[in-house]
Amino acid sequence: MTNTEWLRLNRENWDDRTAVHAASDFYDLPGFRAGRSTLRPFEQAEVGDVTGRRLLHLQCHMGQDTLSWARLGARVTGLDFSPAAVETARGLAAETGLAARFVVSDVHDARAALGGEAFDIVYTGFGALVWLPDVAEWARVVASLLADGGSLYLAEFHPLLYVLGDDGRTVEYDYFQTEGETFDHDRTYTDGPKLTRTVSVQWHHPMGSILTALVGAGLRLEFLRERAWSPFPILPALVRVGPEEYRFPPGRPGVPLTYSLRATKA
Ligand SMILES: C[S@@+](CC[C@H](N)C(=O)[O-])C[C@H]1O[C@@H](n2cnc3c(N)ncnc32)[C@H](O)[C@@H]1O
Repeated sequence: MTNTEWLRLNRENWDDRTAVHAASDFYDLPGFRAGRSTLRPFEQAEVGDVTGRRLLHLQCHMGQDTLSWARLGARVTGLDFSPAAVETARGLAAETGLAARFVVSDVHDARAALGGEAFDIVYTGFGALVWLPDVAEWARVVASLLADGGSLYLAEFHPLLYVLGDDGRTVEYDYFQTEGETFDHDRTYTDGPKLTRTVSVQWHHPMGSILTALVGAGLRLEFLRERAWSPFPILPALVRVGPEEYRFPPGRPGVPLTYSLRATKA
């Protein structure tokens, strides 16, 4: 598959998903317009005070997390390659009266798309890295977008999660498989109707590759926190134990399902 082929397939797939997501209960746009934050409390605690900080949200989807940072006082830019997602994000900004800039771009072209601007915080949230073929290249892009002393804050699904079977008891996929995998699913992960453009290409990135990519791009790892819970019911075996907290049932051995990290440009 050529470079432009996976990009086109994924962009079309995300344009289709966006139409479904915007009408979904999962993304609850009416609640967001009414003032709901989509950021998890641990993200706010770990990022700290964002007042007046230049924050870039890579792969911002419909901009809810981006605008939630704006509600906390950040000067935000969101970037996503899906024109449909960015259009929805701009609409949300207008409807909520929040100041924000949203840009359509492949993440790999972000530096040029943003005119070489530098940011205090680059934020990336759940479900982003699987869409990128090369985390070393991604980390170099992130480093190029950070001002000196600025930090990447990443909250993501743990690479181990992706190799587990639905019951979470068995390893069913290869942790070290780094070739892109092509999927053909006519449903997205939210409620809502079927998709039309159903094919996507995704990649698995072992934790070692992610950390080595960040260090290789000249960033200093400040922390990496692994968690035995997820804000989303990403496996059928997970049970809800609190608002936005899904875990394996009591008595099961702990497995990292999500993680967050901060890496800083010296
Ligand atoms: C799972 S969503 C991120 C969800 C986000 N954390 C949220 O809940 O709003 C992944 C996003 O990555 C975007 N994306 C995928 N590949 C991309 C690329 N190469 N460049 C820019 N955006 C990309 C998609 O359009 C989609 O909006």
